[in-house]
Amino acid sequence: MNPELQRKIATRITQLDVKSSTDVQGLFAQLRVQFDRELAEQRDLQGLESLRQRWQGRKRSLSVTIREHWLNVESPLKPFVGKAFNEFTEYVRTALASLGRQFQAELEQRQVAEQELDLTLPGLQHRAGVRHILTQTKEEICDIFARIGFSIVEGPEVETDYYNFEALNIPAYHPARDLWDTLYLDHAASALPDDLRGARSDPNSLLLLRTHTSPMQIRVMEKQPPPVRIVVPGKVYRHDNPDASHSFMFHQVEGLAVDRDITFCDLKGVFDFFLREFFGPKTRTRFVPSYFPFTEPSADIHASCHVCGGSGCRVCKFTGWIEMCGAGMVHPAVYDYVGYNAAEVSGFAFGMGLDRFAMLKYGIDDIQLFFQNDVRFLHQFRR
Ligand code: DAH
Repeated sequence: MNPELQRKIATRITQLDVKSSTDVQGLFAQLRVQFDRELAEQRDLQGLESLRQRWQGRKRSLSVTIREHWLNVESPLKPFVGKAFNEFTEYVRTALASLGRQFQAELEQRQVAEQELDLTLPGLQHRAGVRHILTQTKEEICDIFARIGFSIVEGPEVETDYYNFEALNIPAYHPARDLWDTLYLDHAASALPDDLRGARSDPNSLLLLRTHTSPMQIRVMEKQPPPVRIVVPGKVYRHDNPDASHSFMFHQVEGLAVDRDITFCDLKGVFDFFLREFFGPKTRTRFVPSYFPFTEPSADIHASCHVCGGSGCRVCKFTGWIEMCGAGMVHPAVYDYVGYNAAEVSGFAFGMGLDRFAMLKYGIDDIQLFFQNDVRFLHQFRR
């Protein structure tokens, strides 16, 4: 700093040759020139910080000295000095801050350049997962039934002989048991908690993996009086060798509607609606006589082939029809097991293979694909 200015800063303003507000402004103008010169010499953040300390630090900075000698003395010029001092202080502060931001930005740019970091490279992409196509299909089916008043319930995969067979009118000696290749567990029903085992299961009978979702018909009717309207999605198990259309574990969706005066027409109406919603509005349904121990009469429900529309193709084996579902009117014997009055109520039931529905709708030709967890397969079904 030039010695002349240095001297002025260290001298009381009353002893300087300052007589008017113009003189005061002149004095501060000299300070500004000095500060600007010093600021222009700065090259980095540290230098800037020293400069700040020198001019505006709390102790023994130029500001402190100036205040002491020019401001804190009685003089008629005091109001002008005060104003000019504040303006100067603000000027210094703003100038330091703005150069500080510039230095900071330059520093960051240099650091980025040194790291050879290319901010324009595409980022790492985390591929979002998709819900399994079986989950999506399950939800689609359940949603359709929910829209016409069915509730969705789920049940245990480990079952007793009573719920899986007996109460469904399939007694132990009955040849119909051959329809289901059952996997038994090494535990008796006594291993289950009372509420799951129910009052009627023989505690000594072996537990099994449910071969169908039908046991939930019994469990629900045991617990509530009619009316009942439920769909039951879930896993089922059978002693099958794996191939393109078999798996020891697969999925079903069961349905049950019981009330007064439910007829076969209701079953037909519900399926016309459901199959059209699921496969498209052109879908036709037909009912073919069949046999299940827990329904009478029983039917297989067919849908017109959604691929060829019924004219015949490989998917429908050139018949124009595809078998979709087992169904029928609930057998009176079943009502006896759950304590419903068979003379008063009637209803229909149905059971369908969820995996099969997904395979047909999406043209999947091997059930094993569902369970192999190959993401190339699973990712195709993003919706
Ligand atoms: N539970 C049968 C099965 O797995 C499917 C079935 C047929 C369920 C007719 C029903 C029904 O509720 O009424 O083969």
